[in-house]
Amino acid sequence: DQPLMGLDFGGTTIKGGVIRASGGPPVCMDSAPFDEAAPAHEIYRRAAELARRLEDKAGLGPIQGLGVGCAGLFNRATGEVLASANMKNLVGTSLSEGVSKALGGRPVVIENDANVAAYGEQWLGAGLHERDLVLLTLGTGVGGGIVLDDHLFIGPGGSAGEVGHMVIVQRPGGSEYDAPYFPELQCSCGSYGCLERLVSATAAMRRAKAAGVTPNLPELCRLGREQDGKERALLHQIGRDLGAGLATLVTLFDVNVFAIGGGFGAALDVLKPGVMEAMAERRYGTLEPTVVEATLGSDAGWIGAARLSGRQP
Ligand code: BGC
Ligand code: NA
Ligand code: ZN
Repeated sequence: DQPLMGLDFGGTTIKGGVIRASGGPPVCMDSAPFDEAAPAHEIYRRAAELARRLEDKAGLGPIQGLGVGCAGLFNRATGEVLASANMKNLVGTSLSEGVSKALGGRPVVIENDANVAAYGEQWLGAGLHERDLVLLTLGTGVGGGIVLDDHLFIGPGGSAGEVGHMVIVQRPGGSEYDAPYFPELQCSCGSYGCLERLVSATAAMRRAKAAGVTPNLPELCRLGREQDGKERALLHQIGRDLGAGLATLVTLFDVNVFAIGGGFGAALDVLKPGVMEAMAERRYGTLEPTVVEATLGSDAGWIGAARLSGRQP
């Protein structure tokens, strides 16, 4: 029952912990501040420092390797960060090599932040009794992770599960069914009308401003819960956009359980009527999927990364 270590690079913190391969409660956890503006070598040094601290805390002797979750796309052969909206200074460097070197050459496996979160949730969180689960995180962006038959589905290039970049609103300029052009739907990935531009926490704040209601998300949700007003109408609409995305995922993967995480995921209760309505209108499949809140919170990522490190060949 070997101890496994995972780290999760977030916007402002690196979270990490040690957990046993058989699951159970974490052996230990810790975090360190994360400065996205710091140079890559400094970020890798910090991550290694946290890993050493975790190893000491766990007190179980040297830990074989570790898993790291980070937003973005990677070259699987070299560990190079190919694209990452937040972690700009890591782009062009090898994350696995950087952390591994700073740790005296231990094996490091890297994976997309939402992918590891999905892997953690399916193992010990919202998917505890499921072999299949799709997770979406509603934060600065929209992350996604697809677990099929107890395995993380990453695809041949390792970039599967980027559900935040599924097209929800048609791009103008190519079809007689074009929608009008909305500059705010232009996505950082280069595409247009991505799910992320509609239902991330950032998008929700932008949409609230445009609707003339409070862009403070907890406050927006509170008002949406309490009264049948503009706030509820907006949250219903955002829920419907999310539901449209989920419907497509059902059609592709026959999803039984969706787990919704990220900061804005806490709004699932108010988003859900819209989500279920739009999903019912659009999905093509045999199951009526359940949509639940993710349960591991900000620990899902490091837990999934740790699990992954124990499953490497
Ligand atoms: C990125 C994903 C990431 C997600 C959540 C998206 O914008 O494309 O790689 O998983 O944000 O951080
Ligand atoms: Na992903
Ligand atoms: Zn996009």
